[in-house]
Amino acid sequence: MGVLDVLGKKSKDSNLAASLLVFMVDEVSQQQVIQALRQLGVTDAHVGVGSIDDLIEHLLKVEKSPERLIVDISGLDQPLDALSRLADACDPSVTVYTVGEKNDVTLYRLLLQAGISDYRYKPLTVDALRGWVDGRGSFSVRQSRSGKIIAVSGTRGGVGTTSVAGQLARELCAGGGLRKVVFLDMDFHGGAGTTLMGMQSNHAMTETLDSAENLDAQFLERVLTTRDGRLFTLGFNNGYEQEYQPAPGAVTSLLRVLAQHFHYLVIDLAQAGGMIANEVYMNAHVNCLVSDHSVHSGRILTSLMTHIRNNLDAPVMHVILNASRPPVRTQVDTQEFAKAISQPVTLAIPYDGIFPGMAEDLGQQLDKDSLMAKSVSKLARTLTGETELDEASPGWWRRLFGKVA
Ligand SMILES: Nc1ncnc2c1ncn2[C@@H]1O[C@H](COP(=O)(O)OP(=O)(O)OP(=O)(O)O)[C@@H](O)[C@H]1O
Ligand SMILES: [Mg+2]
Repeated sequence: MGVLDVLGKKSKDSNLAASLLVFMVDEVSQQQVIQALRQLGVTDAHVGVGSIDDLIEHLLKVEKSPERLIVDISGLDQPLDALSRLADACDPSVTVYTVGEKNDVTLYRLLLQAGISDYRYKPLTVDALRGWVDGRGSFSVRQSRSGKIIAVSGTRGGVGTTSVAGQLARELCAGGGLRKVVFLDMDFHGGAGTTLMGMQSNHAMTETLDSAENLDAQFLERVLTTRDGRLFTLGFNNGYEQEYQPAPGAVTSLLRVLAQHFHYLVIDLAQAGGMIANEVYMNAHVNCLVSDHSVHSGRILTSLMTHIRNNLDAPVMHVILNASRPPVRTQVDTQEFAKAISQPVTLAIPYDGIFPGMAEDLGQQLDKDSLMAKSVSKLARTLTGETELDEASPGWWRRLFGKVA
C-alpha cells in the first residue's frame, strides 16, 4: 500500500518531504495512525507500512530528513541494532519515537539511553500521539541526539595529522548508510585535507564563525563544500596577509550547530594550542593526538596531554603514532614510546610508502592495500563502536563516547 498522506492518499511524489514520518508494521496500525493524526489536525505527515529497513529505503528517496520519526519496532529481536542503522540514515537532529508490542521497562530504558525520545506500546492512542506531534512528549532524561566531534591534532608539522584526519573522515562516511560527515580544516592558510578528499578548497570558515550565532540549515548548505552530499568540508584558506581571531565562543557555537546536522565532525587542528584548539578540545568527544616516534614529540605529547587534562573539560584522548617517514634504525619503538609518555598508544600506523602522497596528489581514496588505509579503517570502526582495537582492553570503545546513540 506504500506511504500515505493523512488523507489516506498515496503520496504522488515520493520526494515530497513531510515534517513527520511514521512507519508501522501493518496496515491496521497504519490506518489507526492516519485516523489519529486527522483528529489532531496534522496535515504535514506521511504514514508508511514496513520495517525499519523499508523506512531507511524510503529515507534514501526523500530530499530531506523529516523533523520527527515514529517507528514501529514490533517483532524485532534486536531493535537497538535496527535503530542504530536508522540513526545513520537520518540527520542526528531528527527526533525519533518508537511504538512496540511490549510493556517492558528495561527495553524502555535502553531505548531512552540510545537517544530515542519516547516509547509506547500499542495501540497508539490519540493522547500519546498528541504529545509527540507537539513535541511535549520527549522526556528530559533522554540523551540528546547529536553528532560526535573528533579532534585531530599533531605534535609537530608533517607528522600526518591531515592524512589521519582526512582518511578518518572518508572512512566514517563510507562506513555507514547515509552517514553525513563534515571535515573542518582549521589551518588559517589551508591544509591539505580538502585536496586529499578531491574537493575544491573552501574559504567560508571566517564568514561562518562570524555568523556563529545565526547558523541555520540554509546557511550551512551555502557555505559547505561537498561532491556527494555526504562528505562535506569547511576551511579558512585565508590570504597570507590576513589575521583572524574568532569571537570567544564562536567555535563552540559552530560545533554545536554542525553536530545537529552531521553524524561525525572531524577537525584537523593545524595548531595544537591556542584559542581555536582549546575550544575544540572542550567540545570534542574524542581527541586523537598524532605523533612521530621522536623524543621531541614525546615531550610535546606529555605537556599537551597535561594541558588538556588540567585546563579543559578533557575529551577521551588517543595517541596515534604515525610513521610519516621511513623508519630509522635508532628509532624508539612503540612500546618504549608508550612507556616514556606514560600513556598507551592506541594505534601505530606503519610507514606506507608512496600511497598517502599519491592519494593526496590525485585526491583519491587510499589504495585498498595501503597500510594507512587499513589502520585508519580500524580506528574509524572503533570510534563508531563497531569493533574493538586489538591493542585495547575489552570494552574500550564504550569509553570513547559512552553509550552509542
Ligand atoms: N604513514 C605514512 N606513510 C607514508 N607517508 C605518510 C604517512 N603519513 C603521512 N605521510 C605523508 O607525509 C606528509 C605529511 O603528512 P600530512 O600533511 O598529513 O602531515 P601534517 O601533520 O598534517 O602536516 P602539516 O604540518 O603540514 O599540517 C604527506 O606527504 C603525507 O602523504
Ligand atoms: Mg596538516
